[in-house]
Amino acid sequence: MMAQRQDDVWQAQALTTAYLEGVRGAIPLAAEQIDIIVRLARAARPDTRLILDLGCGDGILGHALLDAFTHNQPKGIFADFSKPMLDAARSRLVGYEATFLEIDYARPDWVSKVSQLGDLGGIRPDVVVSGFSIHHQSDERKHAVYREIFDLLSPGGIFLNLEHVASASRWGEEQFEEYFIDSLHHYHAPFGKTRTEVAADFYHRPDKIANILAPVEVQCEWLREIGYGKVDCFLKVFELALFGGIKPEEANH
Ligand SMILES: C[S@@+](CC[C@H](N)C(=O)[O-])C[C@H]1O[C@@H](n2cnc3c(N)ncnc32)[C@H](O)[C@@H]1O
Repeated sequence: MMAQRQDDVWQAQALTTAYLEGVRGAIPLAAEQIDIIVRLARAARPDTRLILDLGCGDGILGHALLDAFTHNQPKGIFADFSKPMLDAARSRLVGYEATFLEIDYARPDWVSKVSQLGDLGGIRPDVVVSGFSIHHQSDERKHAVYREIFDLLSPGGIFLNLEHVASASRWGEEQFEEYFIDSLHHYHAPFGKTRTEVAADFYHRPDKIANILAPVEVQCEWLREIGYGKVDCFLKVFELALFGGIKPEEANH
């Protein structure tokens, strides 16, 4: 019998609902993160035709990007391995040029499933965004996924990863935990939850066991090794980091 993967927790309806209703709205600096994603994508690829949101959840990041490119109306691919999350994305994106794809990027064949999407006419993504998702992979697989994204991107395209990254010390991790619990408490206080209850839920959250965190500096170095240019960590608050890079125009795979 195959051992159950720890990140399979995301395929449950209950965790999907708990995340979308109880956590997503409490993520600190979420509006700023999205604003910077949109700015960077527009600056790198003003004529974006195709956006891929990898590990899309309900599609919050890809949705913001589709709204940001109003003049050329790009298409979006919303990819996730959780049926309940893809259902939430479908509901969110009614009326948009969006394709929903059930893929597991732990397996390298996810790339061919994206590139074989018939209705896209062979165009490659100009923007690949991912939010709080790839940290469930081993470091080896994270590196491989970043390379697969590089190969998939159009030359000049940008990869932006909004990610849960490792603190440099246990002390830093504790500061992040306190900060995040305060933010969750602020979000849940109107519904009568105490900080102690919020903290207990936070420490016992079911997706915690699926986390494999890596420092942002290390992950930026991986991106440079792969060939991405203009690699940077564009925003970071404790363990929440937005980093990425641009595939050089001359890197035409
Ligand atoms: C914390 S949620 C983030 C959702 C969304 N990106 C956001 O910013 O709110 C992580 C998402 O990654 C998806 N995910 C995790 N591992 C995956 C995998 N191996 N393949 C595809 N999707 C995955 C989960 O199903 C879930 O929707």
